[in-house]
Amino acid sequence: MNKDSIKASSENHHRRTVITYGTFDVLHQGHINLLRRAKELGDWLIVGVTTDNFDLERGKLNTRDSVMKRIQAVKDTGYADEVIIEEYKGQKIDDIQKYNVDVFAIGSDWEGYFDYLKEYCEVVYLPRTQGISSTMLREEQISIRIGIIGTGSIARRFVPESKFVSCNTISSAFNPDHGECEAFCSANGIPSAARSLDELTGNCDAVYVASPHYTHHEYVRAALQAGKHVLCETPFVLRLAEAEELYSIAEANHSTLMIAHKTAYCPAFRHLVTMLKSGVIGKIVDINASVTTLTDEKSSKLDHNQYGGSMNENACFPLLPIIKLLGNDVRNVNFYSIMKNDVDIYTKAVFRYDSATASFQVGLGAKTEGNMIISGTKGYIYVPAPWWKTDYFELRFEDQNLNRKCFYPFMGEGLRYEIREFISHILNPEQNFYLLSKGEILKMTEIQQDYIDGKTVYKLS
Ligand code: CTP
Repeated sequence: MNKDSIKASSENHHRRTVITYGTFDVLHQGHINLLRRAKELGDWLIVGVTTDNFDLERGKLNTRDSVMKRIQAVKDTGYADEVIIEEYKGQKIDDIQKYNVDVFAIGSDWEGYFDYLKEYCEVVYLPRTQGISSTMLREEQISIRIGIIGTGSIARRFVPESKFVSCNTISSAFNPDHGECEAFCSANGIPSAARSLDELTGNCDAVYVASPHYTHHEYVRAALQAGKHVLCETPFVLRLAEAEELYSIAEANHSTLMIAHKTAYCPAFRHLVTMLKSGVIGKIVDINASVTTLTDEKSSKLDHNQYGGSMNENACFPLLPIIKLLGNDVRNVNFYSIMKNDVDIYTKAVFRYDSATASFQVGLGAKTEGNMIISGTKGYIYVPAPWWKTDYFELRFEDQNLNRKCFYPFMGEGLRYEIREFISHILNPEQNFYLLSKGEILKMTEIQQDYIDGKTVYKLS
């Protein structure tokens, strides 16, 4: 450092530094006013823009612009002397000390909330511009109208979850039992109870299929043929040919067809997959996962005529990590089923790959620990029950000092993550479905079909 730059840097300490933070999505006049007022409080303005991942973690699932676009928009206002990214909770305290900040400024909608920063600097709440917000602009711009088919318990959970995601509204619902449909709509604030499938598709842009699984094929096909985007509950369909047919209709119509597998889209599972793929436990040699949900014997889930049973109901969950992590080249699968009234109340499946094994247990009439263990040549990952909606897992090694616990958000019922992905795909159709690809879905369906067809199924009583 030469003398001049030392002098300049010591002068820098005397300048009055202001810092402010925000998402700055769809940048608007309210943001511009805020930045101008913040800048007027000092000589140097630092603006912290939240990363996409940080927004996802704190449950803000509705941002439209990417972090790069939001940063550029802040720079373009001309008020920011420096832009930083905000990526973790508590970062403000670090930044204020690191950058020798004199003033922390934020809009008055946060009045009082940031008083804890007074220990480190002056805290100023600036007047918020009335009548404008990112939320308002996002809502005004585009809204995908979703129609719901099937009005059972999962649909009931879907409605409030959809409110955490922007650019969508639930416009209508359909259930062949019109009385039930009307009750569902009035209880959930849905404007229209459709009397027919045509009426539903005439009143929406996208369809969420949440009916019993053996009806999925028929409903998804009708919705796709009406030119709608479709989000279909798990398990998707029962036969591979049906799945292939539906994908080809969707592709021909340029419609989005996505499977509502909530595990695939939740933050912990997403990161688990990328960590494993980058080799944290070495090469994967074995996966074991189980999902058991004790169910009343009279439930339709245990009715042979309605394609009930543990495999049909639950296998889509453990199949996800197995297919996603070990791939489509399964050499063989053996199923061992404990049967009652013609359905499997418990099934254990054992997979052979060229250089790995996997197994799962699913049950509706028997209970076991619902955890997942992924074993590798350098260590293993332990995901406690219920692993399919987890917010936490552990990396464990021979040397226990290397063990690590990883925590993630899993907000509400967790359906908001898949809804966000669905809406985002409709708005950006060029996006790749890498979180749960067509190839993975087809393979999972094929394995389910092999079971239904009785291939290598050993029935025990
Ligand atoms: N802000 C403001 N006036 C507005 C909107 C926002 O002064 N009409 C301020 C906020 O108080 C905050 C900064 O701009 O200090 C960044 O806010 P951000 O949360 O990014 O914007 P919102 O429009 O409030 O976003 P959302 O609707 O998603 O909450």
